[in-house]
Amino acid sequence: MRIGILTGGGDCPGLNAVIRAVVRKGEGQYGHNIVGYRGGWRGAVEGDSVDLTIGNVRGLLPRGGTILGTSRTNPYKSEGGAEKVKDTLRSDNVTALIAIGGEDTLGVAQKLGKEGVNVVGVPKTIDNDLSGTDFTFGFHTAVQIATEAIDRLHTTAESHDRVMVVEVMGRHAGWIAAYSGLAGGADVILVPELPFDIQEVCNRLGHRHRQGANFSIVVVAEGATPAAGTMELQTGEVDEFGHVRLGGVGNRVAEEIESRTGFEARVTVLGHVLRGGTPTAYDRVIATRFGLEAIDAVNDGDFGKMVALRGTDFVRIPLDEGVSTLKTLDPKFYEAASVFFG
Ligand code: F6P
Repeated sequence: MRIGILTGGGDCPGLNAVIRAVVRKGEGQYGHNIVGYRGGWRGAVEGDSVDLTIGNVRGLLPRGGTILGTSRTNPYKSEGGAEKVKDTLRSDNVTALIAIGGEDTLGVAQKLGKEGVNVVGVPKTIDNDLSGTDFTFGFHTAVQIATEAIDRLHTTAESHDRVMVVEVMGRHAGWIAAYSGLAGGADVILVPELPFDIQEVCNRLGHRHRQGANFSIVVVAEGATPAAGTMELQTGEVDEFGHVRLGGVGNRVAEEIESRTGFEARVTVLGHVLRGGTPTAYDRVIATRFGLEAIDAVNDGDFGKMVALRGTDFVRIPLDEGVSTLKTLDPKFYEAASVFFG
């Protein structure tokens, strides 16, 4: 069988480990041929592909990014895009497609599946906001990098009596902010799920400093939003899936803290640093297992499914379930982290 594979959306540490696992088991154990589409759905629309073999996926396990490249192309946004994907698969003799991506990429896979394409999805996002799976690969790496940064910021914050605002990724969900904030001992964590009142943030910091602390760490998810009428934010460009380009809330939070409390504040926007570089050992392991389960699903003809991690098991669930709702931050987790605020 010829099997296609593509990586869509933002890149994520562990993508190459998934590709390697699919090829190693697909070719090595099942005797299939694997073809990679370059640049996410763009490659499937345009027929831009590369043959993947055991030979050319060697050395991929620790490598960040994706050798296939990625994009936020949405075939359903261009005239006849979905038909072009089907034409490409037909002319390449590809009978099944493994799509590795987040809500947008897998949303396209789900639609194509309903139109008769044999698809299997692998959930990918550092944001960890896909429902149906306990964790996505890449999240652990992002949390590790953010935590190391927060640790480093502690000592410089302490030396200068400053408030350090750390902005991390997390468009709709505050998983990275909450996990790294808890692991790094943040004094306030702002997440998209809970609109914040900047004055309350300042009050907490004021209280902490009156108790004797000379510095504070505030972790802000990029998608955190102020409660209505409390603080203005700028908005940016919109992509093909309708997402606004974020980045900027950290700066606004720091400005307000400085002007309202008089404490000197600095901002560090971690942004794409969280997505780059080598995956942690844990992410290499789960990415590999996601890939192995995906190729098993294809080999079994079990289509329209997304591979999911449940506890320590890798299972297959309907793609519909995986992309139906976003998995926002568990309030119990936030409550645990907030014990250490202020
Ligand atoms: O992949 C998810 C994500 O990392 C979000 O956390 C972030 O908002 C977005 O991607 C950034 O996308 P881009 O790299 O296209 O700016």
